[in-house]
Amino acid sequence: MDLGLAGKVALVTGSGRGIGAEIARTFAREGARVVVSDIDLAAARQVAAALNAGGAQAIAARCDVCSKDEVAKMVANATEAFGGVDILVNNAGFNKDRYLTKMDETEWDAVVDTILKGAFHCSRAVLPGMMARKWGRIVNISSRSVFGNPGQTNYSTAKLGLVGFTRALSLEQAKFGITVNAIAPGFVETELMRANPTYETLRDTAVAKNPVGFLGAPDDIASATAFMASERARYITGVTLYVTGGRFSS
Ligand SMILES: NC(=O)c1ccc[n+]([C@@H]2O[C@H](COP(=O)([O-])OP(=O)(O)OC[C@H]3O[C@@H](n4cnc5c(N)ncnc54)[C@H](O)[C@@H]3O)[C@@H](O)[C@H]2O)c1
Repeated sequence: MDLGLAGKVALVTGSGRGIGAEIARTFAREGARVVVSDIDLAAARQVAAALNAGGAQAIAARCDVCSKDEVAKMVANATEAFGGVDILVNNAGFNKDRYLTKMDETEWDAVVDTILKGAFHCSRAVLPGMMARKWGRIVNISSRSVFGNPGQTNYSTAKLGLVGFTRALSLEQAKFGITVNAIAPGFVETELMRANPTYETLRDTAVAKNPVGFLGAPDDIASATAFMASERARYITGVTLYVTGGRFSS
């Protein structure tokens, strides 16, 4: 199946490593030009350099998605390099887990702001161009945690908020040829998960509870994202696709 992504410009936030980097590689394989964006510029540069070395067209951009100014600069750079942004993947995000009674305000704000304000700033920055071209794709990376995980009130709130954002924005943008969808991954082995102090227990529990009996890989999320961003998905908008191996609740 030809996804129709050749020549499109895809901007992936938080794509210096993990799921975002795999999404960037998948778009590049499909012939898209890629903006590899991350708060960690060195990581973004490494991913972009590997893509360029493989014959793709990619640029690296440092951007903290919480900063309106940095987002504006990133989109300006993308526009200068590639003429605009056709596809935005709001992937940047992380968790800072603690029971609510012990969570402080900075832990709440960091997680909620990165996930929700990040999607707000980035979407607002790319939408005028998409609307002018009457074509666009926004894919928001949510999480299975929308069903609630203990210790993740901040993260579950933000990831479910992203689902509401997806639904509302899809209705606003449908008439412009722009679709807005979310992907909700289950447990995927990345550095984010490996950095968790209880990683091994988490991983073993996740395998035991998973109906398919194995954990997801970044490619499982990247493939679903590429499809949602493709021409083939033009009749799909406002939905959340659970890529969880059949596991929903905790
Ligand atoms: N790994 C999982 O099991 C899993 C499950 C569900 C959802 N997710 C979501 O998928 C996305 C990617 O997760 P991952 O596992 O690849 O994580 P990761 O930590 O490996 O990669 C996340 C990247 O985002 C970047 N980042 C963090 N804050 C940023 C900011 N303010 N601005 C720009 N970039 C920033 C980091 O530098 C990092 O490169 C996240 O939104 C995460 O919540 C992951």
